[in-house]
Amino acid sequence: MNVVILAAGMGKRMQSALPKVLHPLAGKPLLSHVIDTARSLSPGRLCVIYGHGGAAVLDLLAKRGEVVATALQEPQLGTGHAVMQALPELDDNVPTLILYGDVPLTTAATLRRLVDAAGDDQLGILTVVQDDPFGLGRIIRENGEIVAIVEEKDGSEAQRAIQEINSGIMVAPTAQLKRWLASLSNNNAQGEYYLTDIVAKAVGDGVRVVSAQPDAQWEVAGVNSKVQLAQLERIHQGNIALALLERGVTLADPARIDVRGELVCGRDVSIDVGCVFEGKVELADGVSIGAHSVIVNARIAAGAVIKPFCHIEQAVVGAASVIGPYARLRPGTELAEDVHVGNFVEVKNSQIAAHSKANHLSYIGDATIGSRVNIGAGTITCNYDGVNKSRTVIEDEAFIGSDTQLIAPVTVGRGATIGAGTTLSKDAPAGKLTLSRARQVTVDGWTRPVKIKQ
Ligand code: UD1
Ligand code: CA
Repeated sequence: MNVVILAAGMGKRMQSALPKVLHPLAGKPLLSHVIDTARSLSPGRLCVIYGHGGAAVLDLLAKRGEVVATALQEPQLGTGHAVMQALPELDDNVPTLILYGDVPLTTAATLRRLVDAAGDDQLGILTVVQDDPFGLGRIIRENGEIVAIVEEKDGSEAQRAIQEINSGIMVAPTAQLKRWLASLSNNNAQGEYYLTDIVAKAVGDGVRVVSAQPDAQWEVAGVNSKVQLAQLERIHQGNIALALLERGVTLADPARIDVRGELVCGRDVSIDVGCVFEGKVELADGVSIGAHSVIVNARIAAGAVIKPFCHIEQAVVGAASVIGPYARLRPGTELAEDVHVGNFVEVKNSQIAAHSKANHLSYIGDATIGSRVNIGAGTITCNYDGVNKSRTVIEDEAFIGSDTQLIAPVTVGRGATIGAGTTLSKDAPAGKLTLSRARQVTVDGWTRPVKIKQ
């Protein structure tokens, strides 16, 4: 089949410089949701109609590496006019499915059902019966058969009372679609070329018009405003949360989790309130995520505990490790098994081997840390001289005293001890105590200054 995605509308009600179809839902542009669903139907041809904010739409397609046909609709003279722009791209021998770039949550199963209902030679319309049909095209039936679609602004009072509405999503036999579109007029209340007018033309040609319904109303909900975008985001997040619960994940509150990407969970994973997951995140068996953590493109191994208020991005956390509260793991962090990273510790581009601990107030950047290392409070790797980044190596079983600065490049040998307060500028040999510290003195006979009376 051919798929045409209409994405030229300006979306004035979004009150934004960003074209409507590029606004994100669950972290992904609306248009990308529609393209991904379309792709899952393996169409022979896929064409995106763009207009407003065209350059930004083309940028998105390029960034995604999309091989899609595109057609510019300028000016925008209605949905029928929009589909006309795609006609040169379409294969006449297969039907054409028309989707909207601002209707992001239609499922592939629903679209399949519509396409199957229409077959090769009928016109198919995705319709729903809505309590409040205001503003939408109404489905006009005679003896149960669809004979026309009438827009809100063109309808009689009796027609506007009809609750079955046009979702906008249609599938049509392509050769006929081309003929019908060529004969559209804009003689209506909005002076637009209505795609919906092809229904009456199909009926005139003796082509049967069939309908299919989605499983849920949100599948055909479009985004015209930030209010509708926010509502759809909640519905979508609710669906994701439900799917996680069904797979056995414990959620403290399914209404307080946000997944903006793909979250893969093992058995007995539990997630407290207010967590955000972005990109691809894997939580292995028994992982527990504390409240208000943000986890981006990360892998957390079995049994690890992430305490509240952690920020973890492009990092790997080893099995049975304990992170946080208030820890930050930045890109390139790789923690082995049973590593402890405590409050106000930042780790970047560093490997930390099994059973090592950095429990308080530290910065570990560009470091390779062995196993069973203890990093005292306030330890800082000075990895940046203002121009270049250098590495710090801390070998197995080393003990780094509190408030140590490690001036990279520098190595702390196996089993070495660094005294508290050391500024380490040369390598510390294995097994020995190294410290740099001014000697402590006590001044006899010293008295505190007293305030001089004026
Ligand atoms: C259209 C339907 C209406 C249906 C409703 C569902 C027509 C005439 N009416 O209403 O029956 O109930 O959708 O939401 O088709 N677009 C373009 N170019 C244009 C105009 C629109 O690409 O010139 C795109 C928009 O970006 C949007 C979609 O088509 O993705 C629908 O446009 P919109 O103006 O929201 O729909 P209506 O015409 O109000
Ligand atoms: Ca609309």
